[in-house]
Amino acid sequence: MKIRQATLKDVDAIVHLINVHAEMDQMLFRSREDVETHILNFLIAEKDGCIAGACGLSFGPGRLVEIRSLAVLPDHYRQGIGTALVNECIVQATLADCERIFVLTYAIPLFKKLGFRIINMDQLPDKIWKDCQGCRKQDHCDETAMIRNLVQVAGQGPEQNLNNELRSTTTDKR
Ligand SMILES: CC(C)(COP(=O)(O)OP(=O)(O)OC[C@H]1O[C@@H](n2cnc3c(N)ncnc32)[C@H](O)[C@@H]1OP(=O)(O)O)[C@@H](O)C(=O)NCCC(=O)NCCS
Repeated sequence: MKIRQATLKDVDAIVHLINVHAEMDQMLFRSREDVETHILNFLIAEKDGCIAGACGLSFGPGRLVEIRSLAVLPDHYRQGIGTALVNECIVQATLADCERIFVLTYAIPLFKKLGFRIINMDQLPDKIWKDCQGCRKQDHCDETAMIRNLVQVAGQGPEQNLNNELRSTTTDKR
């Protein structure tokens, strides 16, 4: 399996992955234009020449970044693809000098295994909720907010910080 940055050639596959799960009420629909506009923030999981999964990063204020639209093709579930995508999000966020990474999710066990902890949704900045406008569950959101600190040491460059981060995942179950 290979994880790589998305290109415009991947837009149809990403929209398909998102819509398959949006139709099952597991995530928000995203338009083709929205995916195109944010294409460089998407990661793709390729397996045997097929796009088996994708997810997006959305950089917000306060060195906080959100994982969005994480989706794996149903016939590829439970093969470690979701884990590989989230791990790459952690790498990218660390390299971008973010302090914390969060997600709104139903997949609590996956994120717990990767060091995320549950927080109250009220602890997230208001700006985050612009994506929820138009969601029919806006007033009774049943997703869980989960967050993880990233290792960023003042005075160290992104690569040193990434090494710290990778080292910490083997010793520190945040
Ligand atoms: C959630 C999702 C991305 C997981 O992808 P995946 O490739 O199957 O995940 P992984 O194989 O890496 O699973 C890692 C761990 O997560 C947990 N997990 C994954 N799917 C699970 C499920 N349906 N029920 C319970 N635990 C689950 C397990 O602990 C699993 O480890 P294990 O297989 O060793 O037991 C995928 O099921 C999906 O696309 N779901 C629909 C959309 C969605 O909910 N996205 C998350 C929004 S943030």
